[in-house]
Amino acid sequence: MERKVFIFDTTLRDGEQSPGASLTASEKIEIAHQLARLGVDVIEAGFPASSPGDFNAVCEIAKSVKGPVITALARAVRSDIDAVWESVRYAERPRIHMVLGSSDIHARSKFRRSREELLEMGVQAVRYARTLCPDVEYSTEDASRSNRQYLFQVVEAVIDAGATVVNIPDTVGWSVPAQWGRLISDLRRNVPNIDKAILSVHCHNDLGMAVANSLAAVKAGAQQVECAVNGLGERAGNASLEEVVMGIKVRQPYYRAHTDIVTSELCPTSQMVSRLTGLAVARNKAIVGDNAFAHSSGIHQDGVLKSRDNYEIFSPEDVGANGTTIVLTARSGRHALKYRLESLGYRVTTDDLEHLHTRFLHMADAKKVVDDHDLHALMVG
Ligand code: KIV
Ligand code: ZN
Repeated sequence: MERKVFIFDTTLRDGEQSPGASLTASEKIEIAHQLARLGVDVIEAGFPASSPGDFNAVCEIAKSVKGPVITALARAVRSDIDAVWESVRYAERPRIHMVLGSSDIHARSKFRRSREELLEMGVQAVRYARTLCPDVEYSTEDASRSNRQYLFQVVEAVIDAGATVVNIPDTVGWSVPAQWGRLISDLRRNVPNIDKAILSVHCHNDLGMAVANSLAAVKAGAQQVECAVNGLGERAGNASLEEVVMGIKVRQPYYRAHTDIVTSELCPTSQMVSRLTGLAVARNKAIVGDNAFAHSSGIHQDGVLKSRDNYEIFSPEDVGANGTTIVLTARSGRHALKYRLESLGYRVTTDDLEHLHTRFLHMADAKKVVDDHDLHALMVG
């Protein structure tokens, strides 16, 4: 049976932690409204304990953005949990999200506590958060490097304590898809109360695997994916929201799942986030890059002009992109040249085309890309 995958957007929290991406409160609010138009299920609006400015930005988002669940991040300590609650409580649907390490590396070198002490700290924090808010998410930081049996024990204990969502992060981007999918299946098999909470993943991109790991988790039964617009996030970033969403949509029969994202808002959202963070999107970025629907070689241009589906697996309109573009270079053939000339209003006979194509190739060898001005010059020259 097909199931819904919840999209938890962390552009305004983990994404904003990208070096160079910090946002003002009004920029965060503008993006949060766009995320609501995009149809995300959850907006993680910030880390309120980090600064008064971020606290206020989360309050404003909670007050004004309708539709998605509004959450924010806390460490598993009362003062952070209070700061989250005081900022998200204005939302139609507030959630407290807390994080605590589960790996021995973090226990030893970050917290200097035993596994048992950390488990108890997590359980107490969840119990406390549940006295404030009916929706509490618990993240087992560094889950991919955690001892499996201990991870199962933590997940069971925090669900018993009242966690409604359990998020399994690959905090350092260490996992690989088959292994990550297996971990999700193992959690579903080995944690007796797992069906009492939503099972979520949060993958980082240190080895370029964040989207592949997230989708492997979906295939294995994860119900929520945490991701960020344009793949923003700490270091190499988080799973890119647009890639996760289109992966599920385009290969829906494989995943047997869907999201409620309004995919025609993907490019407008990407452009807004890029403009406000000042972080450019690579031209060749999947889904939202400028080249995502640009065809440059003669073979591909001929194919796509005969039938779009020869070389495009979804349409530009599906993701709110401008359209298919035929880029004229020295690799372009007669068909593409004729198409571009005709779209500029010229009539081109088969005899003309032979001779125009020869002159076009000389021009294209001299320039990297032949643009509309060059084509007008070609026709008058
Ligand atoms: O990467 C991580 O582990 C996080 C958690 C707060 C979910 O960002
Ligand atoms: Zn993260």
